[in-house]
Amino acid sequence: MASFNKIVIIGGGVMGQGISRVVAATGTDVVLIDKDLQLATKAHAEISERLDKEIERWGITESEKRAILARITPAGDYRPAKTASMVIEAIQEELEAKQLLLAHLDNICMPGAVIVSNTSTLSITELASATSRPESVIGLHFLNPVHKVPLVEIVRGLRTSDETVAKIKDFAYLLNKTAVMVHEYPGYVTTRIIVPFLNEAMHVLMEGIASAEDIDVAMKLGFGFDMGPLSLADMMGLDEVMSWMETLLHELSEHKYNPCPLLRKMVRAGQLGVKSGQGFFKYDAEGNKIKEETE
Ligand code: NAI
Repeated sequence: MASFNKIVIIGGGVMGQGISRVVAATGTDVVLIDKDLQLATKAHAEISERLDKEIERWGITESEKRAILARITPAGDYRPAKTASMVIEAIQEELEAKQLLLAHLDNICMPGAVIVSNTSTLSITELASATSRPESVIGLHFLNPVHKVPLVEIVRGLRTSDETVAKIKDFAYLLNKTAVMVHEYPGYVTTRIIVPFLNEAMHVLMEGIASAEDIDVAMKLGFGFDMGPLSLADMMGLDEVMSWMETLLHELSEHKYNPCPLLRKMVRAGQLGVKSGQGFFKYDAEGNKIKEETE
């Protein structure tokens, strides 16, 4: 069984925070890096706020929270990656930005370190081509909220080694996640299937067939989903959802991946869902839904 001394997570957004938390909860030291120390410290504070909410719901204890937070160190530069056995990138879904980051990691990470991407749609082979060690690059697709979703998709690039796959399987086991192996193909299983579903819900809203609230209620009660599609899109981040669709459209040339005009409009207006306080629904500073429709 592979062991991991320290795990570096790059990108302190929705996913980077979620991944940091679950890794730290296993007793592993985490360094959470964002563009600067201020952003990384803010991400650390947001993890703390989320843990507080769970304490209120009796999900965890105060001492568990303290133990998790103490194991996560915020940082504003990449130096901690030099000594990490695994680096996980969770920056925004842009090929160029991720390739630039991976090329830099290639220069500084120690030999044998596993370089992991949490990309939802981009090609691992293409990301790995920015490095001189594609055998050590692999996709591990966590879903949001990371601490609740018991699944990860392991995505092997064309040149990922068996050793790297074995290490990432051990890592998934350590996190108590069920891992499914997927062949590299745009969107894997989960993103590929969920995205047209979310997009269709947006078309239904745009065409005035039902209100946002009623669309979510219909899908929740009608099919037993925990969350309606518009709330789910808000939680994922509408900019992320649009990036995934654009990658799928570009790679597969299928009309069904064309982002709904309403989605494009909202992203242009900076209405990105929970993280901006406004999406298909409104949210307070703590991310709780405010009962009022916006469209
Ligand atoms: P986000 O936009 O919430 O966060 C991105 C973070 O990365 C920001 O804090 C930003 O400041 C930071 N960042 C950007 N460039 C950086 C750099 N060069 N160095 C250090 N930090 C940098 O994005 P989110 O939603 O967390 O997504 C991140 C990745 O996870 C994307 O690849 C996305 O496709 C994937 N993902 C997202 C899911 C979701 O539901 N939002 C679900 C599964 C995967």
